[in-house]
Amino acid sequence: MKIYDVVAIGELNVDVIMNRINGEPEVGKEKFAKDMILTLGSSTAIFAANIAALGAKTGFVGMIGKDSFGQLITNSLTEKGVDTSMLIQHSTAPSGATIVLNYNEDRANVTYQGTMDIMSFSDIDKSIFDKTKHIHISSIFMQSGIKRDLIEILEFAKLKNVTTSLDTQWDPLEEWDFDYKQILPLVSAFLPNEKELKLLTRSASLEEAIEKVKPFINTCIIKRGSKGSLLISQNGETNEQTALLNKEVVDAIGAGDSFNSGFIYQFVKGLNNIECQQFGNLTGALNTTASGGTGAFCSKEKIKKTAKEKFNQDISWL
Ligand SMILES: Nc1ncnc2c1ncn2[C@@H]1O[C@H](COP(=O)(O)OP(=O)(O)OP(=O)(O)O)[C@@H](O)[C@H]1O
Ligand SMILES: [Mg+2]
Repeated sequence: MKIYDVVAIGELNVDVIMNRINGEPEVGKEKFAKDMILTLGSSTAIFAANIAALGAKTGFVGMIGKDSFGQLITNSLTEKGVDTSMLIQHSTAPSGATIVLNYNEDRANVTYQGTMDIMSFSDIDKSIFDKTKHIHISSIFMQSGIKRDLIEILEFAKLKNVTTSLDTQWDPLEEWDFDYKQILPLVSAFLPNEKELKLLTRSASLEEAIEKVKPFINTCIIKRGSKGSLLISQNGETNEQTALLNKEVVDAIGAGDSFNSGFIYQFVKGLNNIECQQFGNLTGALNTTASGGTGAFCSKEKIKKTAKEKFNQDISWL
């Protein structure tokens, strides 16, 4: 019985965002921030919240601590329509947190990984693979347990006929240890951005990176910010999809995760690669019309209205 359209396996943390700070932090001194927001962080959570807002039945597998941050994370995901019954609570380790020092366009972040770094395949209830059509895995470099077990997880999904998508996201250690020859044949849809793809394949140009991964991919979509996205697939299909340009970008936080949510929403419904990519471009663009990663995805009505008004896209079928 497939209860879920998609289950996201990924990191969870809170963001403590400090705004309007009087100067940059200095060791041995203290500064004031005039404004603070404590909120659900994690790019995989943005993906899950937004695909749930589009209407997909969504569950989350992630590890939290037995603490108030863990409670905040659980409550926030539930509010966004994501099933939290598969969250794993660690008995001693604390939930992760990111301190964000916000300076207008730029931010200085410090992340304590906590439980996100502990979760591994052995913690995950294997019956989940019988309950979902699709598994999305993200932010592997933030989660050393998941990174170590990645091939095992993907092979198990394949055995269970569950399709998969992977967005590695940025490697904070900048080591880019990623065996693409082994991993990519096991991934149904690989969703890196352009810069990450070059680093993951140690390539000087995008063309070189594409040549390297081509023999190993099923479908790969390369996200290119305001340039849109590029689709390549094993059968030689390519499609360059220019962005639905937003002239009044509020911010692009989570645009990549929002792209993923649109792409996978259609992918799970069985639409073809180009239709999935076009909807991903729309959800990526929608993301830039409101603040943060989930601001534009409050309700289906709002999503449809903004798609029509800002991008002249009729998605009344949603
Ligand atoms: N300014 C913009 N206008 C319209 N669409 C945009 C804009 N920025 C991004 N997008 C859309 O969102 C998609 C994903 O954005 P981007 O390439 O920034 O992903 P990313 O680098 O993975 O982002 P993230 O930081 O969220 O991980 C793009 O492929 C594009 O379709
Ligand atoms: Mg990204």
